[in-house]
Amino acid sequence: MSTRRLLLTRSAAVISAASTGLLLPQVVRAQSGKVRVGFMLPYTGTFSQLGVAIENGFRMAIDEQGGKLGGREIEYFKVDDESEPSKGIENANKLVQRDKVDVLVGTVHSGVQMGIQKVARDSGVLCLIPNAGVHAATRALCAPNVFRTSFSNSQPTRALGQVMVAKGHKKAVWITWKYAAGDEAFEGFKESYTAAGGTIVKEMGLPFPNVEFQALLTEIAALKPDAVACFFAGGGAAKFIRDYAAAGLKGKIPLYGSGFLTEGVLDAAGPAAEGIVTTMHYSDSLDTPRNKKFRLDYAKAFRAQPDVYAVQGYDTGLLLIQGANAVKGDLSAKPALYKAMEGATIDSPRGKWTMSKAHNPVQDIYLRVVENKENKVTGIAAKALSDSGVGCKMA
Ligand code: PHB
Repeated sequence: MSTRRLLLTRSAAVISAASTGLLLPQVVRAQSGKVRVGFMLPYTGTFSQLGVAIENGFRMAIDEQGGKLGGREIEYFKVDDESEPSKGIENANKLVQRDKVDVLVGTVHSGVQMGIQKVARDSGVLCLIPNAGVHAATRALCAPNVFRTSFSNSQPTRALGQVMVAKGHKKAVWITWKYAAGDEAFEGFKESYTAAGGTIVKEMGLPFPNVEFQALLTEIAALKPDAVACFFAGGGAAKFIRDYAAAGLKGKIPLYGSGFLTEGVLDAAGPAAEGIVTTMHYSDSLDTPRNKKFRLDYAKAFRAQPDVYAVQGYDTGLLLIQGANAVKGDLSAKPALYKAMEGATIDSPRGKWTMSKAHNPVQDIYLRVVENKENKVTGIAAKALSDSGVGCKMA
């Protein structure tokens, strides 16, 4: 090939690369354009208030930094996932393929999370899970670009069993929505309850998001267990608490749960919620300056009381801020970004927590009781509890 011909070929390659945006434009965008953040959350259905609280919390963390991430402006995108697992992949791709987000924040429902997990693994896009506890996300299907800021489904209930046995409740009924979150919460409960010497007399379930509890409550009344333990959340949890009391079970058979049961629903549930004991990685009443300031600021900004979901959204923002600051806003510097996030200590309203190797929080689990429409802390049910992360191999 002649020298002249070689030169021509090279410059043609440069021109075509530049015109298709493969060379310079991408690098420039990564460092000075707006960071594209996509929320994939439920904005309708039984988990709608959870989605709103998570978004509020996230925005609050970012607003505390002057609305910027690593010095860059942010552009937000939103998709309502409706807590509908069958649309999980399609909805995640709206953000990843269509909107080309740099970060996907989502979601609440474990079944929908499986769709996000697939898209995150296939595309490599940074994904922050602000709630959904599905085990696989930080176990067999873990990924370097996926970080969870909430809990694994069995974490809160892993501390519940021994508490109930210690109170003398040796025979329990378990009731939940039958899907990954309920089934995996049961795993944690079963392990802790049976290890402490308790017997599960019946495991009950109904499909998500069904709230026709009557027949099951009648069956519980007939079984007369020492106590009932459950996983429900959002609008369905408020109805379960009310129906439990209306069925005449309150005051006769004590009701326990993972703390989601009494999060964000205390107004809606009313007096029926008083006295319910739960285990959870947050409590409204945590008496720390950090939590008090958070609650005050959140109430001012959103004219609503924060709950665990707001805290998880806020912590998602805090984690991303730590990562983005470490790479001065260049989110394309992935190894350095992930390293900073893996090593982060999050100074959360729930208390300080760190990231496990599989990218799930290592955190304290509190024991709480509902008193005067507040989740009051009565102790620590488990200290620095981590998920097993079994089967996780980071690529
Ligand atoms: C879940 O589906 O993983 C889930 C949903 C709501 C909660 C907790 C877990 O409050």
